[in-house]
Amino acid sequence: MPLQIVRNDITKMKVDAIVNAANSSLLGGGGVDGCIHRAAGPALLAECRTLGGCATGSAKITGAGRLPCRWVIHAVGPVWQGGGRGEREALASCYRTALELAQAHGCKTAAFPLISAGVYGYPKDQALRVAVDTIRAFLQNCEMTVYLVLFDQEACQIAQALYGEPTA
Ligand code: AR6
Repeated sequence: MPLQIVRNDITKMKVDAIVNAANSSLLGGGGVDGCIHRAAGPALLAECRTLGGCATGSAKITGAGRLPCRWVIHAVGPVWQGGGRGEREALASCYRTALELAQAHGCKTAAFPLISAGVYGYPKDQALRVAVDTIRAFLQNCEMTVYLVLFDQEACQIAQALYGEPTA
């Protein structure tokens, strides 16, 4: 299965690259961003400081410090503002950019969180559909195994209803 929906803490994923749901400063924050920086240690923030931030809808790649993966791809999703401010396209664009970076760095496996669906307020069902549709479209032309890593119970229940995964 090229796309698998699982429930886990993304910092535990043994993949080539994990994706961070970052903000445009790339200097850390709460949510999954905080978890990733805590688990990676200070080398990650030191490298992020050299990147000059990142636009919404885009992504940048760094090493992974102490994490078990090789790369961290910092993707900046949109803040939900009701859905009429280009949020869907910005969200799809940050998944695509992150996937392109993973491919360009030779990754065979990558793991994504549900970008924008926490602090940034994107409705979880819509965020999930954008993630699944964008990743599946990309995988039509790319040999990679991608995990969509859900964390909270609500996201898992929505995913089970829509896609029958995660099964656990
Ligand atoms: N593993 C996997 N998923 C997680 C984890 C984890 N360890 N922790 C939380 N999630 P959020 P956003 C899920 O808020 O909405 C930060 O402060 C969480 O349940 O992390 O894109 C950044 O610096 C939710 O479904 O990211 C930005 O300022 C999903 O990850 C801002 O938050 C995304 O929630 C980005 O907000």
